[in-house]
Amino acid sequence: MKGEQDGIKALEVKAGKEISTATDLKKLDEVFRLYLGKKGRLTLFLRSLGAMSEAERKDQGKAANALRDALQIAFDSRKSELRIAAIEELEKKENIDITAPGSKLPKGHLHPLTHVQRRVQEIFQSMGFAIAQGPEIETERYNFDTLNIPANHPARDLWDTFWLKPRAADYLLRTHTSPVQTRYMEKNNPPLRIIAPGRIFRYEATDASHEINFYQLEGLMIGKEVSMANFKAIIEEFYGQFFGKNVTIRLRPSYFPFTEPSFEIDMRFGKSGWLEMMGAGMVHPNVLKSVGYIPGNWQGFAFGMGLDRLTMMKYNIDDVRLLYSGDLQFLKQF
Ligand code: PHE
Repeated sequence: MKGEQDGIKALEVKAGKEISTATDLKKLDEVFRLYLGKKGRLTLFLRSLGAMSEAERKDQGKAANALRDALQIAFDSRKSELRIAAIEELEKKENIDITAPGSKLPKGHLHPLTHVQRRVQEIFQSMGFAIAQGPEIETERYNFDTLNIPANHPARDLWDTFWLKPRAADYLLRTHTSPVQTRYMEKNNPPLRIIAPGRIFRYEATDASHEINFYQLEGLMIGKEVSMANFKAIIEEFYGQFFGKNVTIRLRPSYFPFTEPSFEIDMRFGKSGWLEMMGAGMVHPNVLKSVGYIPGNWQGFAFGMGLDRLTMMKYNIDDVRLLYSGDLQFLKQF
């Protein structure tokens, strides 16, 4: 320290003033360094005590140590004042209301197709149907041969097929869920009732009502006397529960290699319109034979419905491609 007038008392007054007038944390930090830092004035003074006479040291040392403690307290309290002021300032600037309730984290939800699939499963399960599954990559054998569609048969043209390389003409992406019928029957004995929901693939141009992949739900019921009358009753019950009101359906003769007779099922909509809902029919004897059942001992019906169509009707969606777009604006509506 320089001289008498710059003694402890003067330091105390100056430091006290600078601490209380420091307007932000950075300035306060500078003031701290100026007095209590490694080369701070008070620090240096404390170090110089050793060179003083004993009497002087006793006297000055006591005062200097007391001042150091007092300054530390003054710094700490000014620091917390400035901190609070800084937070208040920030709150004002950013308009943060710390008493406002927190905002909810965004949470995902199920896809509309999943909702529909689960609901359909629920209804059929309540009628005693079990759920079966099969692979999306299928063999020619299950997708066609076991279903009474031999190689080179023109009926193969009914399904535009994605063949898989390099083992083309052997592996393919299943064009329908019907292969699950024969996969299941090979492993299980009749009587049986199953549904098989799943993704299928068609090598087609896309438009508002066609996609290259979509979802089907296969149904199969085999017993001693299972008939088309049973089918009609079950399907009417299903639609009634799904749409929450009675619906009118009609069976329109059609052709599928794996059913005989075969039908398209139409549903009445509006005053005079009919909507095609699914294919169905009595399981063809050749299909039963292919899995080792004895036709004549067993019979039953099969059907295949499009889950996309059901979803579009339920939610009033006019373009099937939206279901596969990944468009959040669309998906957030469900
Ligand atoms: N698999 C047929 C299709 O994809 C639908 C169907 C299933 C028809 C079962 C009759 C019986 O077009």
